Amino acid sequence: MDADKKKLFIKTWGCQMNVYDSRKMADVLAGMGYETVEAPEGADMIILNTCHIREKATDKVFSEIGRLRAHKQAKEEAGGKMVMAVAGCVAQAEGDFILKRAPDVDLVFGPGAYHELPEMLMKATGERVVNTDFPAEDKFDKLPGEHKSQGPAAFLSVQEGCDKFCTFCVVPYTRGAEYSRPVQAILNEAKAMVDNGTKEITLLGQNVNAYHGDGKDGKTTSLGELIALLAAINGLERIRYTTSHPKDMDEDLINAHGSIPELMPYLHLPVQAGSNKILKAMNRKHTAESYLDIIDRLRKVRPDIAMSSDFIVGFPGESDEDFEDTLKVVEQVQYQSAYSFKYSPRPGTPAANMAGLVREDMKSERLERLQNLLNNQQLTFNQKTVGLTMPVLFERKGKQAGQLQGRTPYNQSINVPANDRLLGEIVDVQVTEAFGNSLAGTVETTEMIYKAAGS
Ligand code: SAH
Ligand code: SF4
Ligand code: F3S
Repeated sequence: MDADKKKLFIKTWGCQMNVYDSRKMADVLAGMGYETVEAPEGADMIILNTCHIREKATDKVFSEIGRLRAHKQAKEEAGGKMVMAVAGCVAQAEGDFILKRAPDVDLVFGPGAYHELPEMLMKATGERVVNTDFPAEDKFDKLPGEHKSQGPAAFLSVQEGCDKFCTFCVVPYTRGAEYSRPVQAILNEAKAMVDNGTKEITLLGQNVNAYHGDGKDGKTTSLGELIALLAAINGLERIRYTTSHPKDMDEDLINAHGSIPELMPYLHLPVQAGSNKILKAMNRKHTAESYLDIIDRLRKVRPDIAMSSDFIVGFPGESDEDFEDTLKVVEQVQYQSAYSFKYSPRPGTPAANMAGLVREDMKSERLERLQNLLNNQQLTFNQKTVGLTMPVLFERKGKQAGQLQGRTPYNQSINVPANDRLLGEIVDVQVTEAFGNSLAGTVETTEMIYKAAGS
């Protein structure tokens, strides 16, 4: 650790966009002499990068601020200063309220303002600042490019914001309108990442398949076309994207799954519910049938594609029958993984004022049934891969010594006894055992001999 450097501690909640944003903020501040540390003690700056998607988000932020107060006081008693900042979606939604209720907070800024951090930070050493503008166009271009290694598998934001306005969701309010980055900026960033050792890129966006960026000659480029351009980058071996909306699964993108080998056979495509009445009340703009049809088309071009989804149970007006419809969709699709949540009313969203509230115990019961079914499907999926040999990208050291952890093309996590030299490599692994959330495997011996001979 460099003693001259100022210390930055970032705590991140929420989706992968927040993870990506936190890293970008660290990059911006690195230019001002800050290095990232793993604990808040003694930090010169603390950023809480928050999520507003479900309830208690604001409470969590306030209790975290409370916990950090002691560190701030200790720093001040020692003659230093600790700048405390709240960023992300709670900051966007409740900026003024945070400043009012938490006098220790110096800076509050939403996801559109990260590139203005240096300026805000300079002001904040004098006065308190709120910044919740939405200048997405500037944001990405003014953030620094990739200079450091992001690891073998990394995120790249290509789209931000959402125009869908599902009636339960805060994202269109906290992240603003849809914005797609220009193609060239994305290609440049991807090339720099690959030059630094990244082999797998997950393209990120709140509604990533609504991507429509400016391409060469001002031509609008779809996500399918963008993926084809990225696949042509030498050394970029794997591409994924998340999160998608069924309404934006166009022909191009579906076909990309059949024709681009770098595009991994895994797709997170949230359905939320299986009843058309509930989907309509959610303003999802698709039906259960149109969702299932997309999966049929995907499986025609890529029969082994692994599917994942998000579900909400207990949306206002959801009857037993409606919930059964959700289970039917799950039975038909056979998911590789899924996230499921109890409906949580969010202030300012249309669903928060809808009649037909579902009792909490009913929500819990439905969630348990759904999760049992999904967990069984995940285990079944994992068991079906036992005995297969698959290319695994080793991303990190495993939990136990002598192990590496990676992911299969189907996005399953796998632990394998392997030499550290294989970290960051794509290696053929035979799956030997399946668990609920992960696999165990062994490196194919031919691969080991090959690696040993080549090193
Ligand atoms: N943009 C993505 C993800 C949105 S947030 C998409 O469109 O799918 C991630 C998930 O949180 C959603 O898919 C939804 O299942 C869940 N979620 C969002 N708002 C919620 C709420 N008010 N209550 C419960 N779950 C919610
Ligand atoms: Fe939220 Fe719906 Fe937009 Fe997803 S598509 S971010 S759930 S409003
Ligand atoms: Fe949460 Fe904002 Fe992401 S509300 S899920 S951090 S877009």
